[in-house]
Amino acid sequence: MGCDMAQCNKTLLEFERLIKDGGKKDWEGTLRTGIDLGTANIVLAVVDEKDRPVAGATFPSTVVRDGIVVDYIGAVRAVTELKAQLERLLGTALDAGACAIPPGILSGNVKAIGNVVESAGFRLTEIVDEPTAAAAVLGITDGAVVDVGGGTTGISILEHGKVIDTSDEPTGGTHMTLVLAGFYGCSTEEAEEMKRDAAQEANVFPIVRPVVEKMASIVKRSLEGYPVDTVYVVGGACCFTQFEEVFEKYLGIPVVKPAAPLLVTPLGIAMNCTE
Ligand SMILES: Nc1ncnc2c1ncn2[C@@H]1O[C@H](COP(=O)(O)OP(=O)(O)OP(=O)(O)O)[C@@H](O)[C@H]1O
Ligand SMILES: [Mg+2]
Repeated sequence: MGCDMAQCNKTLLEFERLIKDGGKKDWEGTLRTGIDLGTANIVLAVVDEKDRPVAGATFPSTVVRDGIVVDYIGAVRAVTELKAQLERLLGTALDAGACAIPPGILSGNVKAIGNVVESAGFRLTEIVDEPTAAAAVLGITDGAVVDVGGGTTGISILEHGKVIDTSDEPTGGTHMTLVLAGFYGCSTEEAEEMKRDAAQEANVFPIVRPVVEKMASIVKRSLEGYPVDTVYVVGGACCFTQFEEVFEKYLGIPVVKPAAPLLVTPLGIAMNCTE
């Protein structure tokens, strides 16, 4: 099944605006929250019964790395604060919450992530896997979802709505920052800022391009033997305008990047939160 990219992008841009402005939308029915504990960011997404984004909040964090909680107290504190912030904004308590795990994570770590969400005061309804969450937003049942986050590139292959294979390799946005810092002889903080500045893309992309090609080679290997006809890229590290072009050239199949690729997984977690 193909996806309605125009509708998907409209929803994502609406969600992005809500986060940027600290705004909220009117809602119908019960609210559900998706909690994304990423390596670079914690994102909370609130949706209503029609799966429409109602509000969202994000916080830069280092409490979780590649799906492993490295600072439990810090993680609970961050999620608790984001929850309180959204509850003040909405004037109502948030109850049902879902979180997600990257592909291939061990059960002990899954438990830790669920515990963070519960300790922050949510009633944990679901622990979904990240590609399934992304697929809900993209409205797809088949194809490959590639999540290029802070620490890793995760590839998930979907067939008839089920994840049939996954892999996760350590190359992500952090590696781009390191390459950039090395090239320009600056700190990683400066390189990170430069990397995210769209106005500097012409100075940034040629330097990080080999990292993008490395990611594409990881994806190509993971797709071997699967009849995948479209690759969907999500996650913060694919924000560059030329990203999908490099991927497409390397993979030889269409690569689709939704608007606000950083927010696809968080929103999808909320949509997967059942009452
Ligand atoms: N505008 C941008 N341009 C380029 N890179 C960006 C931009 N915004 C964020 N990033 C990078 O995206 C990465 C974070 O992406 P994301 O939030 O998807 O990761 P995460 O979910 O926290 O990490 P992971 O999935 O690896 O656990 C960081 O390396 C960050 O530097
Ligand atoms: Mg992520």
